[in-house]
Amino acid sequence: MSHPTGYTRTQIRLHWIVVLLIALQYILHDTISEAWEAWLDGAEAGFDPLIAQHVLMGGLVAVLVVWRLALRLTHGAPPPPENEHPALKLAAHVTHWAIYALMLLLPVSGGVAWFGGVEAAAEAHEVMKTLLLLLIVLHVAAALVHQFIFKTNLMARMKRPVG
Ligand code: HEM
Ligand code: HEM
Repeated sequence: MSHPTGYTRTQIRLHWIVVLLIALQYILHDTISEAWEAWLDGAEAGFDPLIAQHVLMGGLVAVLVVWRLALRLTHGAPPPPENEHPALKLAAHVTHWAIYALMLLLPVSGGVAWFGGVEAAAEAHEVMKTLLLLLIVLHVAAALVHQFIFKTNLMARMKRPVG
């Protein structure tokens, strides 16, 4: 895998589009959660725009993440900031790949639950949505610590394209 000096314009756009889509998934999930509970109690799920939103935007996240992973494998990513402690390098590496995995497994488990009526998949979806949220909190905290305490200007990587 190559080590470019920065992310491309497409990688940066995809990062921020996916951030927005995932934020909407967390903010607007009430309707699909209620519809799922109702279905477990034997009710039929009728059409609701917020259910369509959750399914379609969640599916879009999966598609965009596959695209991101393809770019990640072909273009690569910039190396960690200079003088980064090895433990933090490892933490960033593990966190980034775990986030990628969860961004794929959430839509898959959601789809299996919703279209296949599989309760275990819905339970996995719930556990993974909590895990992803925890990793996002960690990721944002790390970005802010880098920016304001370590002063590595890390945020510029997700603003200014290279290549
Ligand atoms: C839904 C929320 C978010 C998700 C799922 C997410 C996901 C990711 C992933 C997977 C990477 C690794 C890219 C790679 O090297 O392949 C990344 C990088 C990055 N993200 Fe996020 N991110 C989110 C929110 C944010 C926010 C809110 C900020 C700013 C405060 C941010 C700032 C950055 C920066 C600066 C990098 C580059 C890190 C580096 O190259 O070492 N992210 N993000
Ligand atoms: C990255 C994409 C996704 C995220 C971040 C996400 C997030 C969430 C969240 C936060 C909840 C609320 C869980 C709760 O009630 O505590 C939820 C519920 C649900 N989502 Fe998703 N979702 C995603 C994709 C999808 C997709 C693509 C589908 C279906 C095709 C789906 C189907 C469901 C279902 C059926 C529920 C209710 C059952 C449950 O609570 O597990 N999700 N989702």
